[in-house]
Amino acid sequence: THAKDTRKALLAWYDTIHEVRGMPWRKPFNDSWNEEERAQRAYEVWISEIMLQQTQVVTVIPYYNKWMSKFPTIEDLAESDIDTVNSLWKGLGYYSRAARILQGAQKAVKELGGRLPDNAIDMESKIPGIGRYSAGAICSIAYNQCVPVVDGNVNRLLSRFLAFYTPPKAKQALDVLWAGAAAMVEGADRPGDTNQALIELGATVCKVHDPLCDTCPVQQWCRAHARQRANEEVQPEAH
Ligand code: ADE
Repeated sequence: THAKDTRKALLAWYDTIHEVRGMPWRKPFNDSWNEEERAQRAYEVWISEIMLQQTQVVTVIPYYNKWMSKFPTIEDLAESDIDTVNSLWKGLGYYSRAARILQGAQKAVKELGGRLPDNAIDMESKIPGIGRYSAGAICSIAYNQCVPVVDGNVNRLLSRFLAFYTPPKAKQALDVLWAGAAAMVEGADRPGDTNQALIELGATVCKVHDPLCDTCPVQQWCRAHARQRANEEVQPEAH
């Protein structure tokens, strides 16, 4: 496979742009972090990823900063209440996200020693509001684990990259895309950056309309581009 070359090109591209964007939830993973520091990073990445689920980066930044000054730790959040949480969420929309974060924090504090689980499977099964995407994002970014993410952006990017066009929402299609995402991140030194690079490439280059193939770092491995099909729209799919 070309996964390794693709990842190398992807990360080289990411390194040229990611620091410029000033996203406060981005901190390079550090091997010397202890368990408590990793758990704190998981909390930060969790909040940012839930906020980012239906909302643009520029909009999320001030909400994230306000949230973190009000609730610096998961314990601070767990002691709060739904009205306070909703007031911090005001304007972001999809309030059920906020309610589930509060429930998740309370469950983690009551039942899990105040920490999110240390792996994606437990995270997804034990924490309300954390699905496969969020668990993958948190575990790759905060814990440096090689677990994949597929959000709407990565779905579209990989559909093109693999020239894999199947009826939207087919379970079999999603399985193939998750497997493609897993191949991208498997064996990565920087799984969190690899996943964030995929998300960001999908959002900014491999766009729904008029993808910017000329500036794409992985163009040479892209099957849609090779077949001159990159301009076709890919149906957004649930994930
Ligand atoms: N959208 C969702 N997750 C993101 C992340 N970690 N960085 C930038 N955009 C995102």
